[in-house]
Amino acid sequence: MALLIWTNEFRVGVDSLDADHIVIFSLINHIDEAHLSGTDERAIGRILKVLIDRAVAHFQREEMLMKRHGFPDLEAHAGEHRKIIEDLQILYEAYVNAPSAAISGEIVKVLSAWLEEHVLETDMCYRPYIPGEDT
Ligand SMILES: [Fe+2]
Ligand SMILES: [Fe+2]
Repeated sequence: MALLIWTNEFRVGVDSLDADHIVIFSLINHIDEAHLSGTDERAIGRILKVLIDRAVAHFQREEMLMKRHGFPDLEAHAGEHRKIIEDLQILYEAYVNAPSAAISGEIVKVLSAWLEEHVLETDMCYRPYIPGEDT
């Protein structure tokens, strides 16, 4: 069963950013499934690498749009992005060096917290500033 189910609650109202979030949701669910099944632990490192690359590109897109539209809390928001990437890099390196169910469980926890706390709270703050169709 999927860990995360996309609902309108997660919509930030900007098409390109919602599309990024949906892809990221899906990658996190793949990691969770691989972790829970325990049959394909090595796949987690590969999916995590794809996820980190997508997250970096997504954060750049968000920051570019926030800057373009004069979002006032850009620095604090970008700081959260840096922290998420740092956390994911550390977990990725730990996982690649010594793949284990404990680390992949931790990875799923960090990723779930990112969606619940960052997307639902921090990302929602730029909603009034960025028009829906901007990319
Ligand atoms: Fe986001
Ligand atoms: Fe963000």
